[in-house]
Amino acid sequence: MGRFYNSSIGKKFFVSITGLFLMMFLLVHLALNSLLMFDDSGELFNHAAHWMGTNPIMKVMEPVLGLGFVLHIIYALIVQIVNWTKRPVRYAKMDQKEASTWTSRNMIYLGAFVLIFLGIHLVNFFAVVKFGTPPPITIDGVEMHDSYTLVSGLFKTCVSIDVLYVLGSIFLGLHLKHGVWSSFQSIGLSNTIWRKRLEMVGSIYAIIIAVGFSIIPLYFLIF
Ligand code: HEM
Repeated sequence: MGRFYNSSIGKKFFVSITGLFLMMFLLVHLALNSLLMFDDSGELFNHAAHWMGTNPIMKVMEPVLGLGFVLHIIYALIVQIVNWTKRPVRYAKMDQKEASTWTSRNMIYLGAFVLIFLGIHLVNFFAVVKFGTPPPITIDGVEMHDSYTLVSGLFKTCVSIDVLYVLGSIFLGLHLKHGVWSSFQSIGLSNTIWRKRLEMVGSIYAIIIAVGFSIIPLYFLIF
């Protein structure tokens, strides 16, 4: 186990497992956030956000999610630094370009942009809900945070935030387009037949995430 953990394949394995876990989170997060656009009173979204924030399974998953992000970033950085130091990058640049895609060569930069976006996003919403004073509301006799007003208020009034969220979603989509099939490859679940299929699944997943997360700020900006 120690040898596997220290090998480059072992480190890529951890980047992939944590990446696949984060991809599942993103689908759940997008599904919940989509409710923002289906009920202008905000009750639907507030109910769902309240349920997510209070049920015991989600309370356990929150630190696991945080750990998933941290491990993904640390292992991805280690793999990248080892690649930089090992590879005679400059003279191999031409061959590399022929053998790889733009997204695969720029995963670390796309990831860094997504990380900056995520930091701003957590300050915008997560920190306000957890540590600040989010607007309160009572729905069906239950007091909860008015997360709908928090989110819609920011997206309606701050165009620069809308632009940031659209760009963040597009960069995230590009990161995921390569991330999906590459993760399956690194954990040994790909071959020449499945490679093409997984690339297709990755592209569809990336489009759903990029378009889905972009539509929400645009919806509030336009309507
Ligand atoms: C339109 C886009 C998005 C909206 C409206 C949105 C909304 C929110 C809200 C309201 C929260 C606070 C939840 C709470 O604690 O009650 C939150 C938390 C969070 N968001 Fe987003 N989000 C968006 C995009 C993203 C993206 C693209 C990512 C990943 C790159 C992301 C990652 C997270 C994480 C890690 C948390 C903290 C964990 C959690 O509370 O679930 N979000 N988001």
